[in-house]
Amino acid sequence: MNLDVINNKLKEILSQRRLDHSINVAICAVKLSEIYGYDKERAYIAGLVHDCAKCLNKNEVDFYVSQYKIELDDLEKDNLALSHSVIGSYIARYEFNIEDEEIISSVKYHTTGKENMNLIEKIIYMADLIEEGRNFNGVYELRELSFNNKLDQALLISFNNTIKFVIDNEQIIHPRTVEARNYLMKQK
Ligand SMILES: [Fe+2]
Ligand SMILES: [Fe+2]
Repeated sequence: MNLDVINNKLKEILSQRRLDHSINVAICAVKLSEIYGYDKERAYIAGLVHDCAKCLNKNEVDFYVSQYKIELDDLEKDNLALSHSVIGSYIARYEFNIEDEEIISSVKYHTTGKENMNLIEKIIYMADLIEEGRNFNGVYELRELSFNNKLDQALLISFNNTIKFVIDNEQIIHPRTVEARNYLMKQK
């Protein structure tokens, strides 16, 4: 794993907008790591690569899915908004040679979340939402909580927002997001 190699590969496979977002997520993940006590270099790399599969076209998706025998569930199939996290975790491992299992899983679960997330999974999930380029309604509160030792509270609000959004748009909720949300509710 070499940062220059990763940067060059990302420039090839991401749009400029997506690359800017990825760098912002990496910087934000470092800030959160300082607060919550995670390795800053690992957090930076995880943030940088988290969306590496976001700009793939259908043919490229098919290629990677068959190349690495990636198992997508019914909701992830033909839905890059969900599957890019899972596919990205394989690209991080096999194309970028990242062997750090925590980085890999933080990429894999950055869209849906999951039950009982570890620290880097939480950091990347939140950094993706609150990086400085984000400006949706409510982002200010999420930043306040995240930067003030209330990461779980920020996560819970985010899962609730996602679930409400999906319901309002008459879409199907990914079960991992429900599990992530319920787990934090039980922790409270
Ligand atoms: Fe993403
Ligand atoms: Fe992202």
